[in-house]
Order: sequence, then C-alpha cells, then structure tokens
Amino acid sequence: MAKDQVMAALAALEAHRVEIGHQTIAGLFAADPTRFARLSLRLHDLLFDYSKHRLNDATLAHLITLARAAHLEDKRAAFFAGEKINNTEHRPALHMALRNFSGKAVMVDGRDVMPDIFAMREKLYAFARGVRDGSVRGSTGKPFTDIVNIGIGGSDLGPAMAARALSPFGKKGLTTHFVSNVDGADLADTLAKLDLATTLFIISSKTFTTQETMANAQSARARVAASLGEKAVGDHFAAVSTKLDLVEKFGIQSDRVFGFWDWVGGRYSLWSSIGLALAIAIGPEHFDDFLRGGHEVDDHFVNAPLQENIPVLMGLIGIWYRNVWGFSSQAVIPYDQRLARFPAYLQQLDMESNGKSVTRHGKPVALATASVIWGEPGTNGQHAFFQMLHQGTDIIPVDFLVAAEPIEADGQHHRLLFANCLAQSEALMKGRSQQEVEGLLRKQGLPATDIAALAPHKVFSGNRPSSLFLYHRLDPRMLGRLVALYEHKVFVQSAVWDINAFDQWGVELGKELCNRLAPIVMDDKAETSALDASTAGLIAYRRSLIAE
Ligand code: F6P
Repeated sequence: MAKDQVMAALAALEAHRVEIGHQTIAGLFAADPTRFARLSLRLHDLLFDYSKHRLNDATLAHLITLARAAHLEDKRAAFFAGEKINNTEHRPALHMALRNFSGKAVMVDGRDVMPDIFAMREKLYAFARGVRDGSVRGSTGKPFTDIVNIGIGGSDLGPAMAARALSPFGKKGLTTHFVSNVDGADLADTLAKLDLATTLFIISSKTFTTQETMANAQSARARVAASLGEKAVGDHFAAVSTKLDLVEKFGIQSDRVFGFWDWVGGRYSLWSSIGLALAIAIGPEHFDDFLRGGHEVDDHFVNAPLQENIPVLMGLIGIWYRNVWGFSSQAVIPYDQRLARFPAYLQQLDMESNGKSVTRHGKPVALATASVIWGEPGTNGQHAFFQMLHQGTDIIPVDFLVAAEPIEADGQHHRLLFANCLAQSEALMKGRSQQEVEGLLRKQGLPATDIAALAPHKVFSGNRPSSLFLYHRLDPRMLGRLVALYEHKVFVQSAVWDINAFDQWGVELGKELCNRLAPIVMDDKAETSALDASTAGLIAYRRSLIAE
C-alpha cells in the first residue's frame, strides 16, 4: 500500500518535472524577489540556502507528499524510540542517545541506556584529561606528545575528519595521527615521524576483528615491544571496542579500554568512545560541545514541521534529483580547508548506508538509491574538476559549506574564500548564454569568424543546482550540527526508499574472498588452479615479478 502511494507520489513528481522543466533557477529568482528569504532556513547561526534549486512551492508540496506516502514521520518515531529498525541485524540504531542532553531516558530492550553512556563518557573524559595534562604518561615517564588512532571505516573517518576540522581547538604539543590502511606504508610513514616513548596508540574497532586494524595493531605493538620492551606495551596502548573480551586477549589494561554498544553503527560512532582520539585532541569540554551540536539537530529533526526541516529537505531534494531528474552524483564542496576529509566521511555515511538494492523486506528496490558522493575543498576544486561541474554533460548538484569567519585572524584570505564560494554557486545557476558570450567577444574586437568558432566553447548552460550552508565559525558545536544534519538526511532518503540504512552486507563478500586468497598470496607455492583465470593469472604474474 505504502509502496503504491510512494510510486503515485513519484509519478506526480515526474509529471511536475515535465511541467516546470522549461523554467530556470535564474528565471525563478527573477519572478520572485522573496525566493531567497522563503527558501532558506536557520538553525541557530547556521543558514541552509536551498533557493538555487530547480524547484518551486509545488515541487516542495509534492516532495512532502512523497515523504508522507513513505511514512517518514512514523519511521522517524520508530528510529528515535529505539525500535529494531536495523532489521537484518536485529538492532536499534540509537547513536542519538550518545548526544542526548534532554534528560530523558533512552530505552533499549526495556532498559535505560543513559546511565551506561554517562559512566563510559566520564571514564573517557578522565583518561583524555590525564593524557592532556600529562598525568597519564608513557613507560619512560614522559608525557605523550602523539596519539595514533588505528582503525578503519567508521573507526577512522569520523575522528580523523573531526580532528582535522577542529585542529585550532587542539592542544599545543599534542598531535593526533590516523592509521587505517593495511598498506604498511600508512603505519611506517606515520611512525617515521614519531618517538615511540611519547606515543599513545588507540586501537579503535567496533568488532575488534577487522583485518586491517588488527594487522596495524599487531605491528604497532611489536614496534613498541622492540623499542621500549614488552612491559611498556600496557602504557602505550588504549582500545575502543564493543568486544571487550577480544580487547582483553590483545592485552590492553581494562582502565584503558572504552566500550560502546552494538546499537551504534560504525559510521555513526564518532559520538561514542570512537571519538577518544578527538576528545584527547580537543579536550572534553569541546567534545561535549560537539555532542551538543548533534543533539540540537536531533531536536530540530524530530520537532520541526517537514517543510521547515533541514535534513528532511536535504533528503527530499536529493531524491528529486536522483529519482526524478536521474542525476547520479552529488558533490560536497567545503570552502573550508579543515573540512578536507568531510566528503570522504560522507562517502561512508551515505554510500555504505544507502548503497542498497533491496528493501527492508528483501524485495528489489523500485528506485535508484544512493548517489555517488564526492568532493574536495574549494577553492582547490575550482582548479581541478569544476570545469565538469560548469560545462560537463552531467548535472551534478553541489552542497557548498562555508563559514562567515575563520577561527583565527587571516587577513583578507577568508573574504576571498567566501567570495569564491558565492561566485561558484552563482555561476552554476546563471551560466552564460551564447548571446552574452558573442557580445563580450565583440567588445574585445574579435573578428566574426573567430567569434563564431570560439563562442560555443565559452557558453555555460547554467541552471545547475546547489545548496549552501553558511555558518558563523567551524567550531565543535557547528561540526556536530553538520554531521548530524547529514546523518538524518541519509535516514530520510532510506525511509523513502524503504531500505535499511544501518547494515552493510555489501562489504562482506570482498572480506570473505580475501580471507580465502590471503593464504595463497602468503605462500608463493600455493596451488591456484581452483581460482578463476584472471585471479590466478595475476597471482602468477606477481610471483614472476618478485622472483626476478
Ligand atoms: O568495511 C565495513 C566496516 O564494517 C564498516 O562498517 C566499519 O566502520 C569498518 O568496517 C570498521 O569496522 P570495525 O570498527 O569493526 O573495525
């Protein structure tokens, strides 16, 4: 029934697209001087401008009908009530509890989980304070100068992204590093710069079985034991996991082990003990502010009417482009160098959550799901891939993010950065017509034949959509808001597509095949005849290369 209503709402959107297809964004602005005021929303000092999109009031009404047809509000209520919406793993998805400052209980299986969250956070904060003030020290008695987080996916991308974003809130003399890749170069290059006597390793892994993390953890452990002695290991390692028994086997002291719970998805775990490296870097007070920013967004997502709800609009506008216009990718361009890892973080959040082909009930999904999420900071991207954004054959909606002010004084740099951001979003919208180009070339005195030859290359079709997030400064609270906004955007889209955003079975097959192949790659004499011809051929060629 809901599916029929969703398909009917989409058919209405499709007909509406045909109806308004001839309108341009610039034309919509010309016809309505209140467009920016009407199509922008505020959440504290964050402004979400969604006026530069191919949409009008009727589009928004259709999109809200679609959300209601998909029972978005009921699904959101089930999500926040701790129902087991991750139905393939029989778990709730309750990362919001980790940033819950409402004073209300959060129930999982009939038990309030808030006391456990507070107790774990206190333990984590005490440890973070100890590392920061030097009371927690290495085996030689020296305070720590470097923290190395070893983890991958959600146990790396979140803290790595946030530590970089919030680096001005860091402590002088304390540097955080992130090692994720099983490629030994990652650990080697990181350790080459460090003194092990003043280095603390944090092994971050929800499952404590992930191949890459375990390989890096064992190598780091061996390095510490070789250089400082086996006894030093306990002083130089901490761990974050839900599998406390496996951590114990690794040999990490229980006072340095920080747990979390299986109802926290890996890519949603930055708010949990997985944030330890970040909490050490920026300190518990700032980490708390980060959590509060996330909580503010939860409040907004639950309480704001759908048509004034930022994550709801982010999700629905994405669906408008993905499912009605057929655009398959979405760029995220922070005009904020410190958000350099934000697009990579969002790739996991969005594509691991919603890159699915079956519904929650295991039926083929009727619609295209997750867009390809990608991006790099501006202005750098302008000198790389913006050519395609402006003149390529694909339309790629863009999310721009920019602060009103930098954290530290930077002369005129930030104003230049800001001007660039606005200019790009304006250029995407307005474009430049053939007539305008010809007029400009004539003014330059070019002969008619040159104008005719050059003009088509200088035309910008325009009408290319973008959203813009403008906030005061990139501080911990704002980062918390931004992360939570995108988390809920992903949820909104999963609700419309009726998919489970909280499992990730698609990562399993590769892991399984690697477990089968690794022993064959380790042993250069191992039999390969049972493998497919390409895999066997590649292994044989590698063997020939290393034998030379
Ligand atoms: O690659 C899949 C994945 O399971 C992610 O979902 C997860 O964030 C990552 O691996 C790391 O997992 P863990 O924290 O258990 O090491």
